[in-house]
Parts: sequence; C-alpha cells; structure tokens
Amino acid sequence: MAASTIPSFKLNTGASIPAVGLGCFVGAGDEKRKQVKDWALTALKNGYRHLDTAWIYGTETAVGEAIRESGIPRDEIFVTTKLPWHHPGYVLESIDDSLQNAQLDYFDLYLVHFPQAVEYPEGRGRPQNAEDHNVQALESPTLNDTWADMEKVLASGKVKAIGVSNFSIKTLEQLFKTAKVVPAVNQVELHPYLAQSDLLSYCKEKGILVTAYTPTGYAKVRSDPDIGKLAAKYGVTPAQIILAWHLSRGCAVTPKSENEGRQKENINLPTLSDEDIEVVTSLDRNERLCNFPNEAGKVYGWTMEQFGW
Ligand SMILES: NC(=O)c1ccc[n+]([C@@H]2O[C@H](COP(=O)([O-])OP(=O)(O)OC[C@H]3O[C@@H](n4cnc5c(N)ncnc54)[C@H](OP(=O)(O)O)[C@@H]3O)[C@@H](O)[C@H]2O)c1
Repeated sequence: MAASTIPSFKLNTGASIPAVGLGCFVGAGDEKRKQVKDWALTALKNGYRHLDTAWIYGTETAVGEAIRESGIPRDEIFVTTKLPWHHPGYVLESIDDSLQNAQLDYFDLYLVHFPQAVEYPEGRGRPQNAEDHNVQALESPTLNDTWADMEKVLASGKVKAIGVSNFSIKTLEQLFKTAKVVPAVNQVELHPYLAQSDLLSYCKEKGILVTAYTPTGYAKVRSDPDIGKLAAKYGVTPAQIILAWHLSRGCAVTPKSENEGRQKENINLPTLSDEDIEVVTSLDRNERLCNFPNEAGKVYGWTMEQFGW
C-alpha cells in the first residue's frame, strides 16, 4: 500500500481534506456502479485518500466496500457524499440511507448536491426520469430550510463537515441569510473554460473551500492547444497541467478515472509558474460542459437565472 503524498487543504472546521480526491460517478447501470469498488481500491492502493460519492450516484456501497477491503484505517480516508435534490424534505432520513449504503459510521463531508428541491412521485426512491431534467422544482423546502436540517445532521455527529454543491454567489448569499454554520466546501463545475474567478474570490473571503468537479474539462479542454503547449513544456499530460492549475488556485479536485495509469497521473502534479497559471486562467470562456439545460432552459427544474450561473 503506497503512502499518500497528496497535498491537503484545511477546511474551516480545522480538518484536512486531500487536495485530490477520486470522483466516483459512473452514470447509470448497476454493474458499472459495482465495479467502482475495484478501481476505488486501486486508487487507495496508489495513495488516494479522498473518495467523492453521492446518494444519487448509486456508488456509496462500492465506496464503503473499497474502504473496508483496502485495510486502510477509516480515519485516514476522507469520504464525501451528497444529499440528492429530491431529498431536501428528508435530510435527517437521507443521511441515514447514505450511511447504511456505505456501511460507514460517519462521512467526512456532506454536501447539498443542488440548491433546489425537486419533487419525485416516488418520494425518497431512486428517480427514473431525471436525465432530461424534466422535473418539477418545489417552492418548499427552501435551500434555507435544507441548510437548517444540514446543521442538525452536523450536530448529530453523523458527518464531520457540511457544505454545498452547485451554489453560486447568488445562492450562497441566500443561504447566508439564515445559516448558522458556514459551508466548509462548495463543489462546483470548474476547469479552464469555466474558471469561476469571482466565485472563487467570494468563497475564499467567506472561508469556503472550492472543490472543482469536471476538473479536467473532458477531452474538449484537455485538447486545447495552449494546454498542450504547457504539457510539452513541463513534460506531463494536459490533465496534469489542468489539475496543477486548480491546486495552484487553492481548489481541491475530484477527477474520476477507472484507469490505474491515469489515476497515478492525476496525483503526480507539476508546480506551474505564475505566468503559466495565468495562461491557463486566460482560457476562461464561461463555458459549462456539465449539466446542459433542457429545451425549457432548465437544469433539474431551475433556470440558469435561478442558479445564478
Ligand atoms: N457535485 C456535482 O454536481 C458533480 C457533477 C459532476 C461531477 N462531480 C464529481 O466530480 C467527479 C469528476 O467529474 P467528471 O467525471 O465530470 O470529470 P473529469 O474527472 O474531469 O472527467 C472524467 C473523464 O476524464 C477521463 N480522465 C480522467 N483522468 C484523465 C487523464 N489523466 N487523462 C485523460 N483522461 C482522463 C476519464 O476516463 P477514465 O475513467 O477512462 O480514465 C473520464 O472519461 C465525478 O466523478 C463526481 O465525483 C460532481
């Protein structure tokens, strides 16, 4: 078992979070979800100590199994999971579902996956019809109601920290109207084509660590010619340039890879010069590559304006 050499960031709770975590989203399909155990185990063997899952991914079980099979003490692994959009009315129940799925006693970080609450006819069960975003957002519970319940979960000790995901400055401002606990993390889509510099500055000022999802920007950003030039200059891959850029800006990342070689790449990152960090940041074009709005202009029941995106 490799010792971990991945750098860490400090959360506003005082806890450390490994700067690179393994993304554990694989889309639909029970078989694919079960296989997450094998490649999460490979990642743990190679030094990963942070796994990013969510109730909605259906991979909490595989993540829990990988942790137990790794033999690494539980307290040496940072595990994040997320409250799905259709559970805001069931926060206190949903965390128990997630703990049960993973067979863990606690999570290190529990995120509100999206700011909006969404209705599903089947209640707390797995939604069948979310892929096209044709779901109904609810007026209530509000994100403030949900956050108040998240604070109760934190007080229960079932999670060591709470945070949010897919929040903008607009929705964070709304949250701060009633929040007693400052979110430890805001996990958002972030890559060189969506640099989110204003959100990053805002979160830094509030003591919220930003975690980048879709951190490599898929093949689209990885094949950008300027990223390619930097990769050649540093003798690394485009993904390594992009992930190094995130870390240099104080962001944690959760790249997903099933491949051992690419997993290793993603935790062996160069240090970029200030000038080269600027080159990558200048590629920003405010382009989202994840969560495309449907024909009605909505993502899971909310408009871009409602998100503040
Ligand atoms: N909070 C949210 O709403 C939210 C939304 C989206 C994602 N996430 C989290 O973020 C994680 C990652 O997001 P993502 O999958 O959208 O983006 P990503 O990690 O940037 O991209 C994953 C894709 O890139 C490939 N890849 C990974 N490392 C590579 C490398 N070094 N070189 C070339 N290709 C590489 C993977 O293929 P291989 O597996 O074949 O290597 C996979 O096809 C998810 O698993 C999830 O945990 C959160």
